[in-house]
Amino acid sequence: MNIAARPQKAVLVTGGSRGIGRAICAAMADPAMPVFVNYARNPQAAEETCAVVAAAGGKAFAVQADVSDHEQVQRMFLFIREQGYWVHTLINNAGIVADTIAASMSIEQWRSVLATNLDGSFFCIRTALSTMSARKSGRIVNIASVSGIKAQPGQVNYAASKAGVMALTRGLARELGRYGVRVNAVAPGFIETEMLSDLRSSEKGEEFLQQTAAAAIPLGRLGQPEEIASVVRFLCSKAASYVTGQVITVDGGLSV
Ligand code: NAI
Repeated sequence: MNIAARPQKAVLVTGGSRGIGRAICAAMADPAMPVFVNYARNPQAAEETCAVVAAAGGKAFAVQADVSDHEQVQRMFLFIREQGYWVHTLINNAGIVADTIAASMSIEQWRSVLATNLDGSFFCIRTALSTMSARKSGRIVNIASVSGIKAQPGQVNYAASKAGVMALTRGLARELGRYGVRVNAVAPGFIETEMLSDLRSSEKGEEFLQQTAAAAIPLGRLGQPEEIASVVRFLCSKAASYVTGQVITVDGGLSV
């Protein structure tokens, strides 16, 4: 890679080492635009995602940063620049849950969820947008959640963070439209990833999921990460050239 050459476009997917993030990386595989696979703690899993992208015909690089840490986010963008790229397409996917009812929620449980899901998205956007505006080109897709639309007990921190992500999406679309930068969000319902494993590990949680799937989800099943990734890919594509400021719910009909 040539640092002196004019930087080329790249995709950055936060939390790309597993689950929905890995599926998004694979869906974004493109020989003309590499994918930077962000991870917080597991370089091996990020390298596995890079191999998945390569198998799909693309090129990928792993890049470490805890997105809740502004300095680490800045270092990540610097690393990408040093490799000869600028972030044209930013997918804010990194997210965590720390579920419990509000009465027993610790300040740490509140802050950590807001810090990763909402601050983390803003830190990446804040760092990416000056280059996007200057080049009058760019795409941002934020991964929200139906929990930010439809309330669930035990998730006030998560719901607040994801509702914040949706508001951030709409406000940014207003600010960045004039620069040709499109900003959208995808709000998944129940998707089969490790995020659901806590819920699945208890008998009650598994029962809740099965009952929800059978009774509350019109399509009668949980979603797959690839079913979120295909919508992200659409939002980043020319086919969505007049779509900005939208939250696309992908939940098998759960929220209708
Ligand atoms: P996951 O737990 O499998 O993946 C989350 C990824 O984010 C992991 O790779 C994790 O290491 C990374 N991450 C967490 N904190 C980070 C940090 N501070 N810095 C960098 N990376 C960090 O979960 P899943 O399901 O793939 O979640 C992806 C996104 O989709 C999240 O934003 C989540 O809130 C959202 N979502 C998931 C749903 C589901 O049912 N699985 C439903 C609705 C939304």
